Amino acid sequence: MPINNQAGERDKTRVPRHIAIILDGNGRWAKKRGLPRTAGHAVGAETFRKIATYCRDIGVDYLTVYAFSTENWKRPEGEVSTIMKLLRKYLQEAIDTMERDHIRMKVLGELEGLSPELREMVSRTDEISQRYAGFQANICLNYGGRDEILHAARRYAKDYAAGKADDSLTEEGFGSYLYSAGIPDPDLLIRPGGEQRISNFLLWQCAYAEFYFTDVLWPDFGPKELDRAIEVFNSRDRRYGGVK
Ligand code: FPP
Repeated sequence: MPINNQAGERDKTRVPRHIAIILDGNGRWAKKRGLPRTAGHAVGAETFRKIATYCRDIGVDYLTVYAFSTENWKRPEGEVSTIMKLLRKYLQEAIDTMERDHIRMKVLGELEGLSPELREMVSRTDEISQRYAGFQANICLNYGGRDEILHAARRYAKDYAAGKADDSLTEEGFGSYLYSAGIPDPDLLIRPGGEQRISNFLLWQCAYAEFYFTDVLWPDFGPKELDRAIEVFNSRDRRYGGVK
């Protein structure tokens, strides 16, 4: 069953509000074609653009992707610098077009570890995003799930010591210290590339997410694969620990 009706309107009951994706398989995609790994990242960045547009068009409210982890700095220097270059290019294009398209964008992660140029771009996208409502793309950059939880715990401890927080901390209250503050938890987590693990991604937020794994490599991931993931998501019985 299509997730858009003929008038092109989305069916809110069938489209997840928040989709998270671990971008995986760029290197293997390139290797299969005798290309350098960095060529896979360039196509992967293009795939992100296509999937983000598709998500917006079918009525997803939030798309969060894992673009660069706190562990990815261990990769060869040339590969890291290509990924950073692609991110700068993408953020610059986003800054130039998000006002026109009324798209919101947020970078989640340890921003202090990023270059001053990237940090400046992140502030700019934050500032533009504040003016709009509607679809939001989140890019996890220098991000680690455990690092995020630690970072939140330290911020809470600081507030507590300063008398700005008391000892009645709730899950919701703790969530407001995370990089993802204000963003609803993902409903569907997709991992292309054949691996079936969470790799330190959104550990707190994915407590009740449905997981979908596929062997398709990220650069080959298209709207058809996303539709398939949503179809599988719709066949799941979400009980949140309760019974039906
Ligand atoms: C994982 O594939 C991919 C990455 C670590 C980098 C993803 C980054 C981009 C696509 C660049 C820019 C992103 C955006 C959102 C504009 P891998 O290298 O681990 O692949 P492999 O498992 O096949 O080696």
